[in-house]
Amino acid sequence: MNVLIVGNGGREHALAWKISQSARVKRVFVAPGNAGTALDAENVDISSTDFPRLIKFAQQNDIGLTIVGPELPLTKGIVDAFTEAKLRIFGPRKAAAELEGSKVFCKDLLRHADVPTSDYQVFRNADNATTYLKEREDVPVVVKADGLASGKGVFVCATRAEATEAVKRIGRNKEFGDAGNQIIIEERLDGQEVSVLAITDGRTIVTLPPAQDHKRAYDNDTGPNTGGMGAYSPAPLIDEAMLHLIEEQVLVPTVHAMKRGRRPFKGVLYAGLMMTNQGPKVLEYNVRFGDPECQPILMRLQSDLLDVLEATVDGHLEELEPLRWDPRSAVSVVMASEGYPGTYERGFPIRGLDEAAKIPDVKVFHSGTASVDGQVVTNGGRVLAVTALGSSIGTAKLQAYTAVKCIRWKGAWCRKDISDRALASVNFDN
Ligand code: AMP
Ligand code: GLY
Repeated sequence: MNVLIVGNGGREHALAWKISQSARVKRVFVAPGNAGTALDAENVDISSTDFPRLIKFAQQNDIGLTIVGPELPLTKGIVDAFTEAKLRIFGPRKAAAELEGSKVFCKDLLRHADVPTSDYQVFRNADNATTYLKEREDVPVVVKADGLASGKGVFVCATRAEATEAVKRIGRNKEFGDAGNQIIIEERLDGQEVSVLAITDGRTIVTLPPAQDHKRAYDNDTGPNTGGMGAYSPAPLIDEAMLHLIEEQVLVPTVHAMKRGRRPFKGVLYAGLMMTNQGPKVLEYNVRFGDPECQPILMRLQSDLLDVLEATVDGHLEELEPLRWDPRSAVSVVMASEGYPGTYERGFPIRGLDEAAKIPDVKVFHSGTASVDGQVVTNGGRVLAVTALGSSIGTAKLQAYTAVKCIRWKGAWCRKDISDRALASVNFDN
C-alpha cells in the first residue's frame, strides 16, 4: 500500500519513519515534508491545507491511507474532503476537530460530560470580561482566546492587572484575529502537566503510554511558552492505576459525549492534563499526535502502526491485538534556532547529523529543516528532535544529549534538563 502523510514537522517525520517499517507499505509520501522526511520517505511539494491538490495526488498515486499530522487541516475539514472523494484518511472530521479548534466547545463538552476541568466563564467581548475581572477577587486566572492561535492565545496570569491586559490583547487589540471572538477566563490550576494520548475509532479506546512535554523555553521551566522543547515516555508520575482512572474519568466520557453530540471522534485524542491535588483535570484537548510527544512514543512502539491506524479508520479497533511496547524509556530533546519562540533567521547549514546518526539507539527527527543544494539547513524555530532509547530515563537522556553534542549550526540551542522532572519524581518515590 502507498501512504501519504500530511505535514512538515518532527511529528510527521516520526510518523513517516514508523510507517515505512511496515511490511505492507510500498511507498510513503510526505506533503510537504522536510529534509528529514526526504530521507525516510518521498516529499511532495503540496501544502497541508491545499485539499484539492492533495486529493488529486492521492487519487493519482494509489494512496491507500492518508495520515494527517497537524491540527489546521483537520479543523478546516481535510477528513470530510477526502472521505467525500472516497479516500481513506486517518483523523477526526471537522465537527469533531472542534474539540481543539474551539476551547469554548471543549470546555462546554467537558462540563456536560462531567469530566474534571477547571471552572470557567465565557465572554463575547472584552468589556464584559473586564467587568467580571473587576468584580471578582484578585486571584490567579488563565485567559484564553477561543480559537487556534498556535499555542500563543493562552495567558497564565498571577494578578487581575495581568488578566485585564490579556483580555485587552485578545478582545480589543485582536492580536489573534477571529480566534479571539470569544474569551475564556478560567481558574488557574497547580501541578505537573502530563499528556495522555489515545487512539479511538469512536467506540473503542486504545490508550498510549503517557508522556511529558516541556512547554517553557528555558531550563527549570522558565521563559516563554513554546510548542514543546522536549518530551519523554513513559512518565513515572502516571502509574497503571492512575492511567486507568484517567481513562475512566476523562477519555471514556469524552468519547461518549462526542458520539451523543453526533460528532463521533476518530483519530488521536490527546488530553493535556494537570495533575492537581484533587486528581487529574483536563487543560485542553488536541485532536492529533503531540509534537514532540509523538517522537518518544513512536520510538517505543513495536506493533505495526499501519495496522492500528487502518483499524481506526475502518472502525474495528476492538479486534486489534494489544499494542506491543519497547520496555525501555525514550527521551526527545528539541534543538532550536536562536531567537525561538520569538523571531529567528533560517538557512544556517547544520553539521554533524551523520555523526549523531551513528550513536546507538538514537534517531534524529527533523522538525524545521530544508535541503538546499544537497545541504541540510535550518528552516524553522524548532529544528530537530533528537530522540533516544535507554534502559532508564537517565540512560536515554544521556544518549540523546550525546547525539545533541555532535550537531552544530550558528545559534543552535536546547534545554539541558529534558526529563529531569521524571528523575526527580522517581527519587521522590524512593
Ligand atoms: P492550553 O493550550 O489550553 O493547553 O494552554 C497552554 C498551556 O497553558 C498549558 O499547557 C498550561 O501550561 C497552561 N494552562 C492552560 N490552562 C491552565 C490552567 N487552567 N491552569 C494553569 N495552567 C494552564
Ligand atoms: N506538544 C504540545 C502540542 O503538540 O500541542
